[in-house]
This record gives sequence, C-alpha cells and structure tokens, in this order.
Amino acid sequence: MKAENILVINGATRESGNTDVIVQKFIEGAQTTWYTIEYATLRELNISDCIGCCKCLRESVCNFQDDMTQLRDTILKSHIVVFASPLYFCEVTGLMKNFLDRLYFFYHPVNKHLVAGKNVLVLTSLGEEEIGNVTAVLEEFYRRFLRALDLKLLDMVYFPDLGEKDAISQKPEYLERIFNIGQTLISTM
Ligand SMILES: Cc1cc2nc3c(=O)[nH]c(=O)nc-3n(C[C@H](O)[C@H](O)[C@H](O)COP(=O)(O)O)c2cc1C
Repeated sequence: MKAENILVINGATRESGNTDVIVQKFIEGAQTTWYTIEYATLRELNISDCIGCCKCLRESVCNFQDDMTQLRDTILKSHIVVFASPLYFCEVTGLMKNFLDRLYFFYHPVNKHLVAGKNVLVLTSLGEEEIGNVTAVLEEFYRRFLRALDLKLLDMVYFPDLGEKDAISQKPEYLERIFNIGQTLISTM
C-alpha cells in the first residue's frame, strides 16, 4: 500500500547531467517501495527570488503566487524530502538556494509545525575526486538550515569525481549505490 509521499527536488542547472541521472536512479529505487514519488525539476519551474519582504513572517502568507505555492503544498504531504544538487563553489546551485530561501515561509512560528520533524535526504554531485574539506561549507549550511526549520537529516550522500556532464556513465557503482539508497533507506523508515 502506498501511504506516504517522497518529494524529490532536483536543483541541477544542467539538463541530462550527473544530478539528473542520480535523481532518476534514486526514484527507480524508491519506486520499489510503498512510497508515492513526487518529482520537481527546479530549472523547469517558475520560482521568484525571495525579495525579503517578510510578508510570510508578518502575515503567514508568501508575497508570490508561483510554482512554489504548489511545491509547499507537496512538502506538507511528504514524509521525506530529497534535496539533490551539484556542488557549486562549495554550496548548492543558485536554483536550489533560491528554492530553500523560499521555504522561509516555514520559519514563521505559526507555520513551522507544518514541516517540523520531516525527513530530509541530501544528494550532492561534485567534480573533486576527494570529499575531504570541500563539503564542510555545504554541511554547515544544511545543518543550520535544517535546524532553523526543525527538519531531520537522514543522510548526506556525495558523488565525487563527476566533473564532466556524462562522468557518471563511467561510475556504475554510483548508480547501484543510489538505487539501493532509494530502495533500502526509504523502505526501512
Ligand atoms: C559554477 C560551478 C561551480 C562548481 N563548484 C564546484 C566545487 O566547489 N567543488 C566541486 O567539487 N565541484 C564543483 N563544480 C563541479 C560540479 O559540482 C560537478 O561537475 C557536478 O557533477 C555537476 O553536476 P551536473 O552534471 O548535474 O550539472 C562546479 C561546477 C560549476 C558549473
């Protein structure tokens, strides 16, 4: 029985690149579970930049009616939210950052309980061969972001050495790993 939702957010700017493949394999794995999978590719959506008007904090409503309205509703229905992005200068892409900024809506004390305790899985592709210190900034960012919204981190999974667009085609072990994460991490929750 499919009783719960997983929302997968793809913040890659590059079509058919490594992140797209990673996300697709994750979804294939997760589809073997009882979860219903929802998928959003941010580059295909209309999501305005947060302009810092803080209407969401004052009035508990966002200034913009764009694709974020639907996405926020989908988050509310989701048990797990997956944030997938390439590493861009030690951070997420601008697309992903803009999306995360628009979740400021849930920082409002009135709205926070709507997402508090939801599970987050972070998937990151990157060019460098070694993870080492390169992910420290990203981890600190996510740690603070998740704490601000009372979200629960399931895991942060890295896919290094993926500089070229189709580099992942040379990494069958990555595809197996992410399929298994979709299948097992999710089904054991
Ligand atoms: C603007 C930009 C910034 C990047 N910054 C980093 C970085 O800080 N560290 C890193 O290891 N790779 C970096 N990369 C490489 C990408 O993270 C890597 O190629 C990733 O696999 C791209 O994912 P995609 O194929 O889905 O576009 C950067 C790439 C771009 C275009």
